[in-house]
Amino acid sequence: MTTFRDDGAAALEWAASYLERVRDLPVLSQVAPGAIRAALPARAPEAPEPFAAVLRDLDDVLMPGLTHWQSPRYFAYFASTASEPGILAELLSAALNQVGILWRASPALQELEEVALAWLADLLGLPEGWHGHIEDTASTGLVTALAAARAASPGKRVVVCSEHTHSSTAKAARLLELELRPVRGNAGHGMRLDEVDLSGACALVATIGTTSSAAIDPVPELAAMCADAGVWLHVDAAYAGSAAVCPELRPLFAGWEQADSLGVNPHKWLLTPMDCSALWSRRPDDLRNAFSLVPEYLRVSEDVASLSEYGVPLGRRFRALKLWAVLRCYGREGLQAVIREHVRLAGLFEQWVRDEPRWEVCAPRHFSLVCFRRDGSDEENEALLERINATGLVFLSHTRLDGRLVLRLAIGNAGTTEDDVRLAWEVLRREAL
Ligand SMILES: Cc1ncc(COP(=O)(O)O)c(C=O)c1O
Repeated sequence: MTTFRDDGAAALEWAASYLERVRDLPVLSQVAPGAIRAALPARAPEAPEPFAAVLRDLDDVLMPGLTHWQSPRYFAYFASTASEPGILAELLSAALNQVGILWRASPALQELEEVALAWLADLLGLPEGWHGHIEDTASTGLVTALAAARAASPGKRVVVCSEHTHSSTAKAARLLELELRPVRGNAGHGMRLDEVDLSGACALVATIGTTSSAAIDPVPELAAMCADAGVWLHVDAAYAGSAAVCPELRPLFAGWEQADSLGVNPHKWLLTPMDCSALWSRRPDDLRNAFSLVPEYLRVSEDVASLSEYGVPLGRRFRALKLWAVLRCYGREGLQAVIREHVRLAGLFEQWVRDEPRWEVCAPRHFSLVCFRRDGSDEENEALLERINATGLVFLSHTRLDGRLVLRLAIGNAGTTEDDVRLAWEVLRREAL
């Protein structure tokens, strides 16, 4: 019989050696749909199995079906990093298994969440005093913010956003039975101000760092329009928001301090394992009006609002522990160093593309995402993407901008080096021939 300590040591050894070798694994899983399911037994075992069997099947059965988000050569969607302090804190959080249904169910969970979000707000240069809590994802954060906006403006049922807004805005609007009013983008893919119509609107969603091209909506002007019209401004900075830790990048976030609510995902570009999405609001009473519902069995004598009164879920995980661990173990300087290096590497790659005949940069680059394409048809670019991803050496993704298929290289893994980015460029050039 092995003990928890023995199994734990083996699991930690597995994790450490995985992180050491992940760079050399094929980044995009190459399995066919259903292959992993077919390799697994149809039923759970009757008799208990040792934990070692789980680790063995992780290697033998599941590994081929993993796309390696932890790979320094992962450049698709928005690349991310589960850093070591974040991983260890997740382990501890599972060991503690706190269920934060209300303050007294875990005072430390709630108060650490409040402190961690106040620290993060300070690191990002946000105004003092905003109410913050952690959601699983930015999608849930959007539902939360738009539900509060809807409740704050009875009778107004329109949500204004850019045509480039993330699909979670449309999903939240659908769930809340709100009408979506997309506004066309300008040449840089930011929202066109001359087309913004706030009549009947309860909310406007502006994005700093859109999903397709990391474009920036004109937030200061939109904030002024929203203030005049009494419309809730939600700023979605799910990916890019973490970059505000660098003062030299703060001008790109102008106006976000005027948001009624703001979402930033530390699980995207702030070294925190999935899932951890920060939602701040300067109108917490409106969130509480929309969500507070305290049944008798949760009634308490202490005068403390629980975080479950500010959003959909009742039970909450101890997510703050990993965010706190990351903020402590990197510090402001460590976080800045990672973001600055990613922005530098993206700038290098952008320049290589610009300098090479037959290649084109397709969108302004503000952060660590480069949108580009090879001359030729959409089909040729798509086939090129398929070929480079099939090599297993790197993984990139695509989008559509101005009616054309465009390739995206997103840098966001803390282990990514200049050599990794150079390899991506070499593979692209080789496969394009
Ligand atoms: C700008 C933006 N907003 C929202 C989301 C949704 O994020 P989540 O997966 O946390 O719901 C994304 C995801 O990439 C995004 O890029």
